Amino acid sequence: MAFITPGLPIKTTFDVIIRNNFITKNNHENFGAPGSIVSGIPPGTGILVMAADDVIIENNIISGNDNAGIIITDFANGGAEASNDPDSEPNPDRISILDNFMINNGNNPVGELKALMMTQLSTTGPDILAIGGGEGSSIRDKERYRTWGLSSFGTPAISSTADTKTFLLDEPAEARAISKKDLGEMTYYGICSGCHAFDIRLIGVPTNIIQMIYKDNPQGIVDYINDPKNLRDDYPEMPPQDYLSEDAKLAVAEYILALKK
Ligand code: HEC
Repeated sequence: MAFITPGLPIKTTFDVIIRNNFITKNNHENFGAPGSIVSGIPPGTGILVMAADDVIIENNIISGNDNAGIIITDFANGGAEASNDPDSEPNPDRISILDNFMINNGNNPVGELKALMMTQLSTTGPDILAIGGGEGSSIRDKERYRTWGLSSFGTPAISSTADTKTFLLDEPAEARAISKKDLGEMTYYGICSGCHAFDIRLIGVPTNIIQMIYKDNPQGIVDYINDPKNLRDDYPEMPPQDYLSEDAKLAVAEYILALKK
C-alpha cells in the first residue's frame, strides 16, 4: 500500500517506488482493526495506491489477487470519505506503472468493484483499476493488461527506475517517542473517526454527545469500548476496541473528552 491515512500528523505520501516484488494471492480475509481505514481494503487486492503522489510501480509479479492486481484511488472511492482530512490532497497524482508481469487477477471481485464490473457485464475484476480523481498518471504498454478507468493515463517519461537515485539509511531511524496526547490523537483519527465525527452523525454517535455522557469520566469510555453494549435502537452495535493497549485506550478517552471542534 502507498497511501495517506486521513487525520495522521503526516499529510502526504510521495516519491514511492514499489519494485521487484512478488505480489501473489493476497486473498487473506482482512484482519485490520474493526473500523480502521485499512480494515476497509477489499481482500484480494494486490497493490493499493490511495491519494499518494509520484508512485512508480515496476517489475513486480502480480498474480492471483482475486479482487484486482493494482487499485489506484482517491479518498472518496477508497472508503476514507468519512474521515477525509482537509489538510491532505485527496487524489493520487503522477502514478507511473512501468513493466510488470500481471496474470490471473480479479477472479472474484468483491464489494464495490464487483458492482462496478457487473455494470460492464463482467464478473472478473481487472489487473489494474483507477477510480476517482488524480492527474498526470501513466502506464507502459497498457494493452498488455486488463484495465479499467485508465483512459487518461499517458506514456511514462521513463522506462525504468535504474537511474533514479535512492539511498538506505546506515542506521535504522530511532523510534519516535509518542506523547500521551499524540497517542490519543492518532488512535482517535486512525480508528474512532472512521465512525465518530465531532458534531454530525456518522456510523456512531457524535463525539460531542460522548463528551456530555462521559464528562470527567475517561475510565467510563475505556470500559465501554472494551465491551460495548448496543444502547440505541437507531444505531448498530459498536465493535469492541479491546485489542488496543491500555495506554492507547486511556489516551484516546482523554483525547475525546478534551476535543474541541
Ligand atoms: C465501526 C464503527 C465504530 C468505531 C470504529 C468506533 N465506534 Fe464508538 N460507537 C459506534 C456506534 C455504532 C455507537 C453507538 C452504539 C449504540 O448506541 O448502540 C458507538 C458509541 C460509542 C460511545 C457511546 C457509548 C454510550 O455510553 O453512549 C463511545 C464512548 C464510543 N463509541 C467510543 C469509541 C471510541 C473511543 C472509539 C475508538 C477507539 C470508537 N468508539 C470507535 C461505532 C464505532
